[in-house]
Amino acid sequence: MMATRAQQRPDRAEPVRSGEQGRDFEFTSADFARIRDLIHRSAGISLSDHKRDMAYSRLARRLRARGLDTFKQYLDLLEAENDPAEWEAFTNALTTNLTAFFREAHHFPILAEFVPRRAQPVSVWCSAASTGEEPYSIAMTLIEALGDSGARQASVLATDIDTQVLAKAEAGMYQFDQVKHLSPERLKRFFLKGTGAHAGMVKVRPEVRALVRFQQLNLTDRDYQLRSQFDAIFCRNVMIYFDKPTQAQVLGRFEPLMKSGGLLFAGHSENFTYVTQAFKLRGQTVYELTRDATGTRTPARASTSTSSHTTSGVTV
Ligand SMILES: C[S@@+](CC[C@H](N)C(=O)[O-])C[C@H]1O[C@@H](n2cnc3c(N)ncnc32)[C@H](O)[C@@H]1O
Repeated sequence: MMATRAQQRPDRAEPVRSGEQGRDFEFTSADFARIRDLIHRSAGISLSDHKRDMAYSRLARRLRARGLDTFKQYLDLLEAENDPAEWEAFTNALTTNLTAFFREAHHFPILAEFVPRRAQPVSVWCSAASTGEEPYSIAMTLIEALGDSGARQASVLATDIDTQVLAKAEAGMYQFDQVKHLSPERLKRFFLKGTGAHAGMVKVRPEVRALVRFQQLNLTDRDYQLRSQFDAIFCRNVMIYFDKPTQAQVLGRFEPLMKSGGLLFAGHSENFTYVTQAFKLRGQTVYELTRDATGTRTPARASTSTSSHTTSGVTV
């Protein structure tokens, strides 16, 4: 006889009891559903089924830290106490922070070619900065494109919802392995080599760090409290965690923060063409505003192909 779905996947139907599968805490389907709902409401993140184990292991640390026995107790406490510090820890635990220096490298020559043509000083917003590799790559590109003195006026605002990664970003210290793919020129110009206790590490040079300001910002907040406009916004590999309505809201908030002729850089699997009329694809996952300097909106270019880009809004 065929096994029922619940028999094939007992974890879907029944609570995982203490000790089962090596787990210390009971973790039910209802607990996971509640976690998904809470992180979606607080950070816009859509967690798919296959993130269940990840949610368990990362949040189990919070249960231990709080001396709790079950996920239900933890989630009850999270909602009842409404303590900003616990919400921060909950959010930090559930974000995915993968990044790298000069990731999706084709964007940086586009930025380098773009910034000298702009009214100076230029400002760039890196809106999902993670541990800092991306905003520092932007700052390095500004220095290469504008020269040391030209770049001194430029600025990079680096934001993320996750306070833990921002602290790491601000420190600017990395393992040498994370930069070994960079050219010798870049390594020499932009990094200091660690010695003694810091052997095997590199530190981003102060003149690069001076361009970058870090700040916590939740992209799903209604008002970002940003009062200046940007020449370019990097929003890469974060929209993929949001559903389409959330993506549309975020893009709607970007529009007034963009200077005329500004560029929006998206991640390789993110496609905003069907999400908004405010930006049109210019190519290579770079978008530009559809409104011109007078505020008149030019028609967004219709995409002829859907096969080369995945429309995001998937759960991850
Ligand atoms: C996969 S990393 C991408 C990092 C970098 N942009 C890149 O492409 O290499 C996604 C980042 O988005 C951040 N994030 C997730 N939800 C967010 C939100 N609602 N507001 C701001 N940042 C968010 C995460 O904390 C994480 O650092």
